[in-house]
Amino acid sequence: ADTLGSAAAAQGRYFGTAVAAGHLGEADYAATLDREFNSATPENEMKWDATEPSRGTFTFSAADRVVDHARAQGMDVRGHTLVWHSQLPSWVGALGAADLRGAMNDHINQVMGRYKGQIHSWDVVNEAFQDGDSGARRSSPFQDKLGDGYIEEAFRTARAADPAAKLCYNDYNTDGVNAKSTAVYAMVKDFKARGVPIDCVGFQGHFNSNSPVPADLRANLQRFADLGVDVQITELDIEGSGTAQADAYARVVDACLAVDRCTGITVWGVTDKYSWRSGGTPLLFDGNYDAKPAYDAVLAALGGD
Ligand code: G3I
Repeated sequence: ADTLGSAAAAQGRYFGTAVAAGHLGEADYAATLDREFNSATPENEMKWDATEPSRGTFTFSAADRVVDHARAQGMDVRGHTLVWHSQLPSWVGALGAADLRGAMNDHINQVMGRYKGQIHSWDVVNEAFQDGDSGARRSSPFQDKLGDGYIEEAFRTARAADPAAKLCYNDYNTDGVNAKSTAVYAMVKDFKARGVPIDCVGFQGHFNSNSPVPADLRANLQRFADLGVDVQITELDIEGSGTAQADAYARVVDACLAVDRCTGITVWGVTDKYSWRSGGTPLLFDGNYDAKPAYDAVLAALGGD
């Protein structure tokens, strides 16, 4: 019998999940993770508040647990995330511009340096654009104090810190063609034109009834791929249940497989029990680690049986 990972591998892709260090000691959690997935993304353990809670003091124990577990299983690891407005310790926001620039680059160097050579792809910058039709950047300490150039600077620093890692920009509500995704597209196009190092764009894929799987997901992935970057579905979860949820998952897998440069899919958690959507059922395994119809649909869409 195939697993998600083996079926995806047969298509030249990976199939990953977010992993929380705190659950690795749960036998069913670890067994399901190890059996089904060949890529892992630390769900919270590499974020700024976890890795540098006070300036210059780095703590990697939780991230190490995820990375060590994943690598012992032969999984790829996605790094998530270096520069983000959320889960950002308050000391960062209190810095003036010159200090902030130094702190951002130091953070990238220290965290990427710790895992140099061990990370397949890094989400260098996460969620830098506003929702809605403006196409504008989101307010954050980085945007407000350093201006638009902070993203480019982060990518240049990241390239030097671990030249083997693929460097990604990652965001949500950018899955279809819309004002937000078009703003990201313009940035990536500009980066490619000017030689700013960027290798991939992550599309988070958090879907629900208000934000269903867009009909133009494939077309959107393709337009980014045509700029010369890989594309990845990085945080997939889809609210719902039964056949409707299964069909929606299959549509996402189909869209990725239809785009040569869509290199893999990550779901945002192993089991509904620990989803960030508390009380929701957006994942492929239920709270008892039984495979849901959505699991069967994903496996079939990947060509597995
Ligand atoms: O670790 C503390 C724990 O010590 C404390 O007792 C507990 C009490 O609330 O909080 C724990 O921290 C929580 C953490 O998850 C770990 O469970 C935070 O409060 C909580 O805010 C945090 O939520 C995470 C969220 O990002 C924060 O923005 C979710 O787990 C995580 O799934 C979610 O992931 C994000 C991606 O990084 C970026 N894209 C969107 C996605 C979903 O929001």
